[in-house]
Formats: sequence, C-alpha cells, structure tokens
Amino acid sequence: MSAAVTVLGVNCSPSGGGKTRAAIEAVLDGAAAAGGETRLVELADGDDLAPVIASLAASSAFVFGSPMYRATFAAPFKTLMDAVPRGLHGEQSAPLTGRAAVTVATAASDHHFLGPAGMRDVLVDFFACHVVSPGLYVPAYGYDEHGALAEPFAARAALLGGALVELAGAIAASTALRAVTPSV
Ligand SMILES: Cc1cc2nc3c(=O)[nH]c(=O)nc-3n(C[C@H](O)[C@H](O)[C@H](O)COP(=O)(O)O)c2cc1C
Repeated sequence: MSAAVTVLGVNCSPSGGGKTRAAIEAVLDGAAAAGGETRLVELADGDDLAPVIASLAASSAFVFGSPMYRATFAAPFKTLMDAVPRGLHGEQSAPLTGRAAVTVATAASDHHFLGPAGMRDVLVDFFACHVVSPGLYVPAYGYDEHGALAEPFAARAALLGGALVELAGAIAASTALRAVTPSV
C-alpha cells in the first residue's frame, strides 16, 4: 500500500483565523475525505518561516490561501515565496518543485477573481509546482451565517481537495512529473 498523501494548508492572511482559513479548511476536508493526511499552518502566528519551510518539505501537497488585498494576494504569501528554496544555486532543498498545490483566494466581491493568478504563476513558473487550476475563489457572499462555506463553494472546495490528493498520487506514480524542474 502506498503512503498517505500529506497535505499542508498555509494560511497567508495577515490576520489569520478568518475567512481564508475557513476556505482552506474546506479544501483540506476534501483532501482528508480522499485519504490525505492534513494539517494547517498560519503565517500570522509568527515571523520565523524556517518551521513553515520545514513543514513544506515534509509534505507532498499544498493548499495556499490568501485574501485578496488591492486586487492581488496579501504580503505574507509573497514573503513566504521569497524565502522558499528551489534546490538551485547551492540551495539544499526544493520543497515545492514537482509537488501538487491548490490556490485559495477570498475577497469581498467577485471583481478580483483574476488576482490569485499571481499565486499560480509563481508556483508554476518559478517553482515548477503542479497546480490544480482554477483554484477556489470565495467572495463574502460565499459563507453562511456560521462562517462556513455555502454552496456552490463548499462543493467546489471538496472537489479541489480530492483532485489535489489524486494529483499528488499521480505525481508519486510518475517519473516525469517528479522530474520537472524550473527552467531558469
Ligand atoms: C487591506 C485590505 C485590502 C482588501 N482589498 C480587497 C480587494 O482588493 N478586493 C476584494 O474583493 N476584497 C478586498 N479586501 C477584503 C478581503 O479580501 C476579504 O475580507 C477576505 O475574505 C479577508 O480574509 P481573512 O478573513 O482570511 O483575512 C481587502 C481587505 C483588506 C483588509
């Protein structure tokens, strides 16, 4: 029997614990239903990214979530991407390269649904990470009165979680998908 897919959710909201966390957790629930082992880290919990990068290295799939700020992702996502190694130029690890990810974006309205493209771009083109696309975009009206995802967002989150685990399994079974590296 193959090892369970380990899925790490990373909440890149500057405040933490809010709408973005709820949306990431919905995707993680979908991943768990598909057999993944899930956990979540909050970048708002501290400035030291070393333990976060160690957690990335110990995982085979990721759910990166950020609120949309000024029509794009919030600063903690950029700060994390700036700190993650790619195994090039003397770096000793490449925790995102050739692994699977889903992006989650939350926002006040529908208007900035192209904002998370910037998250996908850096994951795909800079890190050679395999990203299930499109990701989950949840506006404020996508939550119920208890703060949980409403439909159709809940179903979409569950589907993406399952797709993430299946993609990670496909990567694990593939030589070529694991061998993809950044071009520069
Ligand atoms: C500084 C700031 C800028 C924001 N900019 C946008 C924006 O450009 N577009 C949008 O739809 N929502 C914007 N929002 C709303 C947040 O994206 C939204 O409330 C999000 O779900 C908050 O996630 P959180 O609870 O996980 O922090 C902004 C909020 C803040 C605080």
